[in-house]
Amino acid sequence: MGFLHDKAKRQNPQTGDHTSIGQSLCIRCSGFLLYIVGQMKKALSKYVCQSCGYESPRWTGKCPNCQGWNSFVEELASGSASSARKRSQASPMAGAVPITEITSIPQTRMSTGVPEFDRVLGGGIVPGAVVLVGGDPGIGKSTLMLQMASLVKGVVLYVTGEESAAQIKLRSERLGVTPGGSLLVLAETDIDMVDAVIDRVRPAVLIVDSIQTMFRAGLESAPGTVGQVREVAGLMMKRAKTLGTAVFLVGHVTKEGAIAGPKVVEHIVDTVLQFEGEKHYAFRVLRSNKNRFGSTNEIGIFEMGEAGLREVTNPSETFLAQRLPGASGSTVVASLEGTRPLLLEVQALVTPTSYGMPQRTATGFDAKRLQMLLAVLEKRVGLHLGQYDVFVNIAGGIRVEEPAVDLGVAVSIVSSMRDRSAEQDTVAVGEVGLGGEIRGTSQIERRIQEARKLGFRKVIVPSGNTKNLRRSDIEIIGVQTIEDAIGRMLNGS
Ligand code: TYD
Ligand code: MG
Repeated sequence: MGFLHDKAKRQNPQTGDHTSIGQSLCIRCSGFLLYIVGQMKKALSKYVCQSCGYESPRWTGKCPNCQGWNSFVEELASGSASSARKRSQASPMAGAVPITEITSIPQTRMSTGVPEFDRVLGGGIVPGAVVLVGGDPGIGKSTLMLQMASLVKGVVLYVTGEESAAQIKLRSERLGVTPGGSLLVLAETDIDMVDAVIDRVRPAVLIVDSIQTMFRAGLESAPGTVGQVREVAGLMMKRAKTLGTAVFLVGHVTKEGAIAGPKVVEHIVDTVLQFEGEKHYAFRVLRSNKNRFGSTNEIGIFEMGEAGLREVTNPSETFLAQRLPGASGSTVVASLEGTRPLLLEVQALVTPTSYGMPQRTATGFDAKRLQMLLAVLEKRVGLHLGQYDVFVNIAGGIRVEEPAVDLGVAVSIVSSMRDRSAEQDTVAVGEVGLGGEIRGTSQIERRIQEARKLGFRKVIVPSGNTKNLRRSDIEIIGVQTIEDAIGRMLNGS
């Protein structure tokens, strides 16, 4: 038996398949019966090419139809289309209802007990919604889930495939949360067993930590593979929709999305949240990448401490707390994350190059955008940076993506290069164009109000944004070009 099976294993490293070799008899041990049994078991699943839909009873590296490589994913074999047709013949309109006859159900959201989390979800938990919570391993996903599970009202089922129930208990003691008897912990990885428990318990909220550890017995592939993750998510989705249970699926996703697993279910779930942060900083940002029940732009800011995650209610103040007064190369920008203005410190350091190639390093800011800004400064301001290293850092380990921080970055670079500090009580907002012009940005009022709230006295804004602004006790200065902004912001210019 061993010979053929070993060969088969080599042919299909993903499943270690023994019986899918297209022969009815094992040439070494004549295991005919075993082959038949194997075939019966196999009928549960099939392999489908994700590029063209070609189906195969066994895993294949190359699709014989579209010639694509590594495109086969295991799926559970379900009833064929013709059998579905037969089933639906009894009621020809099966399932289809005119939209006028559908009664809309008012959404009653539940609070997670964590206001920052509620905000990211669009105002709380929607019953029956499926939420994927992704993030790097160790970022704090389980901690956030447990904190929510202890605070939410109603029965919560916490399914853990990574830790034992005792470990969860230990963690909850460490967090100092006192969950009531309505928090149930289940250490299980077989999703069908979980499903049976859900049926009995009927929880208001279900947490599956993590989706990569769960498996469905009908599939041969290992937990965490595309087929398994999809099947587990599909089953939980069905549960959520029929029982009205809100489901949180935790998935380890690297920033680059290198681990394919949870990424493949992003399109079927209702909400995709990403928990991110720099390993060496305590700040964590919970971002919504997709939300069928709210805005995708909201963020929640947390700080990881001794007793778990603490909400950062005034992030601008926190991020600016360690600013050095009078230092060159530092400016404050007003960035907008969703509807939320954030004041952040942009730091730049310009030093003579010690090696042949000048370095350009950006942390928390797009490196390509930095290159562009340097080119604009060279051409429009006459700043010759060819012999200088340039480092840009957004303090606090936060990543900003919107172009409204351009102006702050550019002024910080000039400030460091000329060793002249920027005005302390000034905030800069504006996108820098290739011509050196300062382009208008959205939601300028919100940014100005945040600056005012934190006691800043001046805001530099694109001149195009100065029209129709509300009168306020903060000085608003419109600038047209980068040179203009530098003249107004740098001391001694
Ligand atoms: P965890 O929630 O287990 O991460 P994930 O589920 O995303 O893998 O968080 C793990 C990290 O958080 C771990 O390195 C320790 C740290 N941590 C604290 O600093 N304080 C705490 O109170 C807890 C519970 C964890
Ligand atoms: Mg975890």
